[in-house]
Amino acid sequence: MSLQPNKILGAVLAVAVVVFAVDFVSNQIFAKQDLKTPGYVIDMNAAPAVVATEAPAAGSNASAATQQAAAPAASPASDVAPIAERLKTADVAAGEKTSKVCAACHSFADSGANKVGPGLWEVVNRKPGTHEGFKYSPAMATFGETHTWDYATLDIYLTNPKAEVPGNKMAFAGIKKPQDRANLIAYLRSLSTNPAPLP
Ligand code: HEC
Repeated sequence: MSLQPNKILGAVLAVAVVVFAVDFVSNQIFAKQDLKTPGYVIDMNAAPAVVATEAPAAGSNASAATQQAAAPAASPASDVAPIAERLKTADVAAGEKTSKVCAACHSFADSGANKVGPGLWEVVNRKPGTHEGFKYSPAMATFGETHTWDYATLDIYLTNPKAEVPGNKMAFAGIKKPQDRANLIAYLRSLSTNPAPLP
């Protein structure tokens, strides 16, 4: 009997084994993983320049909105109207709504009660780090030596608290929209028996 058919069958089986082996090994190496989030995340704060330059030039409203969202974290972008301007059109009621995100840590009551953060009654024009009975971080106390919570300082701080006062212990990312900040600051101004004059 000829061994030829067996040899051919053997060769075919050997190839099949190798193919399965390669397939198995490559599946191990290149295991398919499902993405947790599709695509990739664009950090608007980390890469403002790229986002701004790629924003479509057409439609000034749309591009203005994009640039506001892409404002650098530390200081309001130069194309953002100064806080003195924005306060003129600020909406105190809208600011009170925005202040809900602060209320977990701050009391706005005239008792000046402290919670996780210091009481914010009469905060406008107060020296940072000086509210009675609150244990501030050294960073905030030091900041108070050279600053006052005037409108502009509040505007910058609330854009990105960690950037303006590095090492302060307010665990809050900031309020990115310039008009939201203005509304909120107008509300903070109202927390007083004798609100500070508008700038
Ligand atoms: C997760 C808690 C938390 C949230 C939310 C929070 N804060 Fe604070 N805030 C703090 C803490 C804590 C401090 C004290 C920081 C320090 O001593 O370093 C502080 C300090 C401040 C100060 C300085 C006050 C002073 O007496 O010098 C201001 C102003 C302020 N916060 C405003 C706000 C506003 C407005 C919001 C909402 C948009 C807000 N915070 C949200 C915890 C918070």
